[in-house]
Amino acid sequence: MDHNHIPPTVRRTYGADDLSTAPSFAGGFINFGDWHGIDLTAPSPEDRVHSQEQLYRRVLATFPEPREQLRLAEVGCGRGLGAALALREFRFASVTGVDIHPDQIERARAVNARALATYPDRLAFTLGSAGELPFAHASLDGLYSVEAAQHFRELATFAREAARVLRPGGRLAVTTFFAAPGAEITERLKILLASFADGLDVAHPLDAFTTDLTTAGFTAVSTESIGADVWPGLDRYLTDTVPADHWTRNFLPAWRHGLLDYHLVTATRT
Ligand SMILES: C[S@@+](CC[C@H](N)C(=O)[O-])C[C@H]1O[C@@H](n2cnc3c(N)ncnc32)[C@H](O)[C@@H]1O
Repeated sequence: MDHNHIPPTVRRTYGADDLSTAPSFAGGFINFGDWHGIDLTAPSPEDRVHSQEQLYRRVLATFPEPREQLRLAEVGCGRGLGAALALREFRFASVTGVDIHPDQIERARAVNARALATYPDRLAFTLGSAGELPFAHASLDGLYSVEAAQHFRELATFAREAARVLRPGGRLAVTTFFAAPGAEITERLKILLASFADGLDVAHPLDAFTTDLTTAGFTAVSTESIGADVWPGLDRYLTDTVPADHWTRNFLPAWRHGLLDYHLVTATRT
């Protein structure tokens, strides 16, 4: 299997369509956000950016202090704003953003040109895929991913790759939406959400991923449901930014009906 093959919907969404420019996102980030503590009366584009930064902070805060010695990589870095935030705010030794789409790597390098010049040895963006990570065995102290794993065709290979590139004791943190188990749920998601119907998103059950991690050599695998901080805030923002019948409005009912949830998964390499 060619792990660097880009599925057609992923190629289009992050190539010509450049999803970061869609009204549901803001500031160059492409995630649904952690809206905890944000006033939802009339959320602004600045609030939207803040929600996306907060999601990154929630993931990055799982890496234990002291962080100055930690070499990290992000899988599915998009425009690389989260990787730059990781370096700036969390002061890791280095952060390498990896993305499967060459356009995203080009954008990440352009958007973060100043940060790349400021930290030439500490920040980098490189082409690569979750199924074939561009790192040597045991070369990283931490690996994280924000709202990208729903695009990975299968998670067992990603779990094995994460285990390969992390040193013993290295930490993994992955956040995105996972499906409830069952073929019937997958069918219902495809009816409600165009991204599942057209193959952009894959309905990965959470339990299957945690099993993949244990099988690959991770311990202390832990999951936290964070949907309550994601979906109501996102939907409030969408109310003002997309038409009422836009398919993305179906994420909230899908969550309320238990078809999917947003999770933060952490694990330690044995
Ligand atoms: C929803 S965006 C999230 C971007 C960024 N993490 C953020 O929060 O702004 C998902 C990103 O994952 C990338 N991606 C999709 N499949 C991938 C894979 N198999 N390996 C690495 N990156 C992938 C896409 O190209 C896209 O840039």
